[in-house]
Amino acid sequence: MSILADVRMNVPLVAPQIGENEIGAVVRVLRSGQLAQGPEVAAFEARAAERCGVAHAVAMNSGTAAIHAGLAAFGVGPGDEVLTTPFTFAASATPILMLGATPRFVDVDPRTFLLEAEAAGAAAGNATKAAVLVDLFGLAIEPAGADALRARGVRVFEDACQAIGGARDGRAAGSLGEAASLSFYATKNVTTGEGGMLLTGDADLAAAARRFRHHGQGERYEYLELGYNYRMTDLAAALGRAQLARLDEFQAARRANAAFYDRALAGVPGVTLPFVPAGATHAYHQYCILIDAEATPNGRDRDALRAALAEAGVASGVYYPAPLHRQPLFARLGYGPGDFPVAERLADSILALPVHPLLDAAQREYVARSLRRALGAAA
Ligand SMILES: Cc1ncc(COP(=O)(O)O)c(C=O)c1O
Repeated sequence: MSILADVRMNVPLVAPQIGENEIGAVVRVLRSGQLAQGPEVAAFEARAAERCGVAHAVAMNSGTAAIHAGLAAFGVGPGDEVLTTPFTFAASATPILMLGATPRFVDVDPRTFLLEAEAAGAAAGNATKAAVLVDLFGLAIEPAGADALRARGVRVFEDACQAIGGARDGRAAGSLGEAASLSFYATKNVTTGEGGMLLTGDADLAAAARRFRHHGQGERYEYLELGYNYRMTDLAAALGRAQLARLDEFQAARRANAAFYDRALAGVPGVTLPFVPAGATHAYHQYCILIDAEATPNGRDRDALRAALAEAGVASGVYYPAPLHRQPLFARLGYGPGDFPVAERLADSILALPVHPLLDAAQREYVARSLRRALGAAA
């Protein structure tokens, strides 16, 4: 082992990449006098729609708002059941509650960590109106399965909040459901600080989402239905447009970092690397491994490994420490421990390593070396 191996580094888990282009774009909007939704939002929508291969994009001020708007446009309401995964961020499921409908969880696949459309289809019943299928960590859902679910009459919403830049079977993430959401939160692969977007190929759904984000207005001061203020500012859109122009560069860096870990961590006992199905272009919003304490050389579990990495200056993340059905908000629907064993096992063993585009070669080598050392594996 080289002397360099002992030099302590500080490796952050996330790091937004903001350059002069982004700064210039925001300053131009500040100087323009048009700060709220205007031409920058329209231009950002057009570019994102093109990039994700859909006809319509509706910018919003969060990914959560986009999911809320999409499910509302599907007509989800009281008495409806919406299938979704228990292994995701809360906002995949909270919009179902916002609409007075009932989330119904279905366990995930142990290899992809996704709620596969086939499993959702098997759980669908008479009250099932829709399914929120999540492109978790940047791995897009399987398109043919989503299409088959739609053909059975279940409206499919693709939560692509983590997946911009990803694709599956030649189709871009964000184009795989009847409608989809993107998030531009600060840590996402493309950021506007806070922000989101609804994507769809359906002109009527897009029009409904545009009303929903603008107080339910048809004509100005004509209120057709309940709506919200979910608009994006031109400031945010200018930042988003500058970020989107660099998406290929960001994704190449994320993929290179992931490929490095795939090689450097291969064969470490007790470590399972991310599974990427044939035909998938993973967006690597997160690079998540699984730790099996019974198989690691020194018996360390996920939490002990995480503490050792922190000691070495390597930040890591746990997405997600508890599946949604174990959270008080959803447990009151009647769920309990043991209901979704795969999601529960994942929550106990998953660990996200830094994979962001600013990670340099020395840092990623240090992460891999620190991880091997923390588990007592050969260097
Ligand atoms: C899977 C998933 N769904 C929904 C959201 C909600 O997006 P936002 O934070 O922009 O509201 C996020 C992001 O945080 C997410 O990761």
